[in-house]
Amino acid sequence: MLTVAWLSGCSGIQSAIDPAGEEATHVATLFWVMTCGGALIWAGTVAVLLYAVRRRTLYSEPAASRLIFWAGAVFPAITLILLLGYALWLMPSLRPLAQPGAPTLRIEVTGRQYWWRVIYRQPGTPPVVSANEIRLPVGERVEFTLKSDDVIHSFWIPALGGKMDMIPGRENRLSLRATKPGTFRGPCTEFCGTSHALMAFSAVAMEPAEFRQWLAGQHVPSAGATGTGARLFIRHGCGACHAVAGTEATGMLGPDLSHLGSRETLGAGILPNSQDNIARFIAEPDVIKPGVQMPGFDMLPPDDIEAIASWLKGLK
Ligand code: CUA
Repeated sequence: MLTVAWLSGCSGIQSAIDPAGEEATHVATLFWVMTCGGALIWAGTVAVLLYAVRRRTLYSEPAASRLIFWAGAVFPAITLILLLGYALWLMPSLRPLAQPGAPTLRIEVTGRQYWWRVIYRQPGTPPVVSANEIRLPVGERVEFTLKSDDVIHSFWIPALGGKMDMIPGRENRLSLRATKPGTFRGPCTEFCGTSHALMAFSAVAMEPAEFRQWLAGQHVPSAGATGTGARLFIRHGCGACHAVAGTEATGMLGPDLSHLGSRETLGAGILPNSQDNIARFIAEPDVIKPGVQMPGFDMLPPDDIEAIASWLKGLK
């Protein structure tokens, strides 16, 4: 009963043992084999210990030596070799990279203090730049190129697969295949500074047709891009750091905001995406996310902040 209650805490959007991807399923299987194997061996050891404690007569020396030889040396050696062999046998399937030349989707993710730049690359189409949210088609293998522009971050979507570091000056590759649609959470898993714990993203696994439609929509500016907020956004200098397709804003220092309104979260996975939260983030980003590189804009007239927030929320 207690075990059931305890394990129910392990399901959800950020759980390696509630897998929704091929690689995560292998990792979860390995986890359960190791856990059950360890539990059985522990139970056997405790049983032998209890038997030894309760036994009244002494063991003969040859019997004790035999027990130590078989149960204390031969059995653990064979078991550990078998478990190691099983883990090694699983390993190649945890890193299956797409064949070179095959028309596959590549998603380039770059870690920044404290957000993620996401670029979708497909042969024959211009790249799509986004941030803090990753969408991928269910049932298709996707190759991730993982980079960092500052310090070491680590990329992990527990429900979909294993973890991989993002190292400045290096390109690491990881391949994942989602098996169930859904929204999952990916945290940064390498301490990277003050707001390391506030650096996350959502990973949305979509039906392939729905995904293609979404990606096609990302190639064009949002219908809301020409709204009145755009003028204020440019006038107050936001475009020096942020890009919004269809406007003069082409900054690359901060997250691309071209379709901000359609993202599920704000501030790299830490706040629900609402107009109020966008306004709060513009006014005092360092209160929401200590150490963030964006300066606070609380000196702007509140009406301007509201207008910009409303415009950004409308960028679907
Ligand atoms: Cu990025 Cu921790």
